[in-house]
Amino acid sequence: MNAPAHAPVRAEEEQAPPLVELRGVTRRHGGVTALRGATLTIARGELLAVVGPSGSGKSTLLNVIGTLDRPTAGVVRVDGHDVAALSDRRLSALRASTIGFVFQQFHLAAGVPVLDSVADGLLYGGTPRPRRRALAEAALRRVGLGDRLRHRPHELSGGEKQRCAIARAVLSDSPDGRGRLLLADEPTGALDSASGARVLSLLHELNAAGTTVVVITHDRELAAAFPRRIRLKDGGITADETTGAAV
Ligand SMILES: Nc1ncnc2c1ncn2[C@@H]1O[C@H](COP(=O)(O)OP(=O)(O)OP(=O)(O)O)[C@@H](O)[C@H]1O
Ligand SMILES: [Mg+2]
Repeated sequence: MNAPAHAPVRAEEEQAPPLVELRGVTRRHGGVTALRGATLTIARGELLAVVGPSGSGKSTLLNVIGTLDRPTAGVVRVDGHDVAALSDRRLSALRASTIGFVFQQFHLAAGVPVLDSVADGLLYGGTPRPRRRALAEAALRRVGLGDRLRHRPHELSGGEKQRCAIARAVLSDSPDGRGRLLLADEPTGALDSASGARVLSLLHELNAAGTTVVVITHDRELAAAFPRRIRLKDGGITADETTGAAV
């Protein structure tokens, strides 16, 4: 609409909705307003950090974006779908096709080889088991764990476990994870700085290959390395900063 007449937008770009759109999103828990009036658009292929003090609403924002939490007011659209209007079945399908979560604490089933844990990420997408396992193996190779496929969680370091969680979160039945949204809540919080740096560079690599990545971090230095930063305070977005040349 704002594009000058001499710079026509390619048809497919014009048609593709933003990957995430929040309009006036509020989330209350009883008397506590965890998120207030958040309005935010995330385009495909972005890499952004969410920063702010403890209790400012960062996890709430991520959970709302990832459709794990429903807003009290406002509209959330993921890939053009108004989340509130979707049936449970369609919402599950949207999550399976598009959204991956990585938490601060690793959620890997005890005693289960990591190849199977990662392959289970596609369980609800209807992908047959042999293909699930082949895709899981490829994802684990991608995060540098091709030689740890049969290891169980207790046989892996913290950083390796976190890389498994990332492999599972980016797993999709498409070759390069394009169109996928990776949401990470303090993924380096439980790691030493070397393992944390490796996890962070992995997130940057995945983003360079086409995955949209949103990361919560307390670390100002880490956040400064992101091209875009959303700042929260008392449940409200107080800043939306972009580094580098405007596109
Ligand atoms: N289920 C809940 N019930 C009541 N209050 C909640 C609930 N979830 C979150 N809150 C409150 O909402 C506010 C925002 O919480 P949130 O977890 O989003 O913060 P955060 O920025 O992720 O903090 P941290 O950096 O400590 O993880 C906090 O004050 C919290 O106590
Ligand atoms: Mg949190």
